Amino acid sequence: MRKQYDAIWLNAQIATCEQGYGLIQQAGIAVRDGRIAWVGPVAELPYDPEKLAAVIHDCNGRCLTPGLIDCHTHLVFAGNRAHEFEMRLQGATYEEIARQGGGIQSTVSATRSASEEVLFQQSLARARDLQKSGVTTLEIKSGYGLDWPTELKMLRVAKRIEDTLPLTVSKTFLGAHTFPPEFRSNPDAYVDLLCQEMIPVVAREQLADAVDVFCEKIAFSLEQTKRVFASAAEHGLKVKCHAEQLSDMGGTTLAASYQALSVDHLEHVGVPGVKALEQSGSVAVLLPGAFYFLRETKLPPVELLRRHRIPIAVATDCNPGTSPVTSLLMIMNMACTLFRLTPSEALEAVTRHAAQALGMSALRGTLTAGKAADMAVWEVSHPAELVYYLGNNPLRQLIRQGKVVF
Ligand code: NIG
Ligand code: FE
Repeated sequence: MRKQYDAIWLNAQIATCEQGYGLIQQAGIAVRDGRIAWVGPVAELPYDPEKLAAVIHDCNGRCLTPGLIDCHTHLVFAGNRAHEFEMRLQGATYEEIARQGGGIQSTVSATRSASEEVLFQQSLARARDLQKSGVTTLEIKSGYGLDWPTELKMLRVAKRIEDTLPLTVSKTFLGAHTFPPEFRSNPDAYVDLLCQEMIPVVAREQLADAVDVFCEKIAFSLEQTKRVFASAAEHGLKVKCHAEQLSDMGGTTLAASYQALSVDHLEHVGVPGVKALEQSGSVAVLLPGAFYFLRETKLPPVELLRRHRIPIAVATDCNPGTSPVTSLLMIMNMACTLFRLTPSEALEAVTRHAAQALGMSALRGTLTAGKAADMAVWEVSHPAELVYYLGNNPLRQLIRQGKVVF
C-alpha cells in the first residue's frame, strides 16, 4: 500500500520563511506528489517516520530552507563585456559607454549573431551555476534582441532552459530594454512596433508572463514607458519596471499605477515613489550586484521602504554589463553589507518576497503545506550563516517538486 508521504526530511532546522526566518527547531517536512504535505516539529509526528514515508532523509541538524528564487535576471545573452569593465576601470562611465554604442547595444549585436544553440549553451551554463547556489525558480528577461526574430530566439532559449533543467522559469518580455540601432532616428516608431505588433503576440501566444521596461535617460522616457505599460495592460499582461537606477524619472509611480508586480533597482527613488508602491502592492526588487559592479554611491532608501512596509526582494540581475553574477548567495551577502538588510530580510528577499515579485506566491516562496516542495538543505546550523559566508557554497541538497536534484 502506498504510504502517506513519498518522502520525509527529518532533524532539520527549518526556515519556513513564512514570517522572518520562520524557524522550527528539530523539524521535519514531508512531501507527496511534489507538494509539501506536512511541516512541523518531528516530535509532533503521529507515527514512526518509517510508517509514514517511503523515503527518509536525515538532515543531521542542518538547515533547510525554501528553494531560492532569483526574480530578476538577463541570463540569456551571448558573449561578455569584459572589455567595457576595463574601460570603466580607466574612468569611462556606464552611460558614456552606452551613448557610444557599447553597453546593452554591444550585447544586442552579439546575441543577434549567435546561433540559437550557442546562445542556449552559454545561458544554460549560467542557469546551472545559479542552481548550484540553491535556486529552484528563476526569472529570465528577453531584451538583447530588440528585433522580433532575436527576441523570440531568447524566449525560446529561456523555455528550453526550463525544459532541460529541473527549474521553474518565469519569462519576461523586455523588448523595451533600449532602442535598437535601426530605430535610433525614430524611437517612437519602435514603441509603435512594441505596442502594436510584439506585445499582442507575446500575450496571445503566451510567450512571456510579464512585460518590463527600462525607464531611464539612456533608454525609455516616462511617456514611452507609459505607452508600453498601456499596451501590456490592454493585452492582459502584468508589468515590471527597471526604475530609478541612474536617476529619478518617476518610473516607480507610473509602474505602481499599473499595479506592477515589481519595481526594480530604485537607488534614486524618492518619497512619492515609495508611497505609490504602498498603494500598489508592488515588490521593491533591489539589485546590489549592479550597484557594486557600477561602483554606485547612491543607496536605495531601505529604511523608507521598511517604514512603508514595502516587500523587499533581492536578485542577481545576472547580465553581462552591470552584474555578471551567478550566485544568489553572494548577492544576499551584498544586500546586507552594501544595503544594510538584515540576514533575515535577505532570506525573505530571495524566497517569499521574490515569489511575490513573480506573481507566484500561491505555490512558492515559503515552506507551507500545499505549496510546491522546492527546498534546499545547507551545511549550516542557522540561516544567518547562508548570508555570512562569502564565496563558500554550503548547499548539500536541492529538491524540486519533491524530487532530489542533487
Ligand atoms: O538591469 N538596467 C538595465 N538593464 C540591465 C543592464 C543591462 C546591460 O548593461 O546589459 C540592468 O542593470
Ligand atoms: Fe536588470
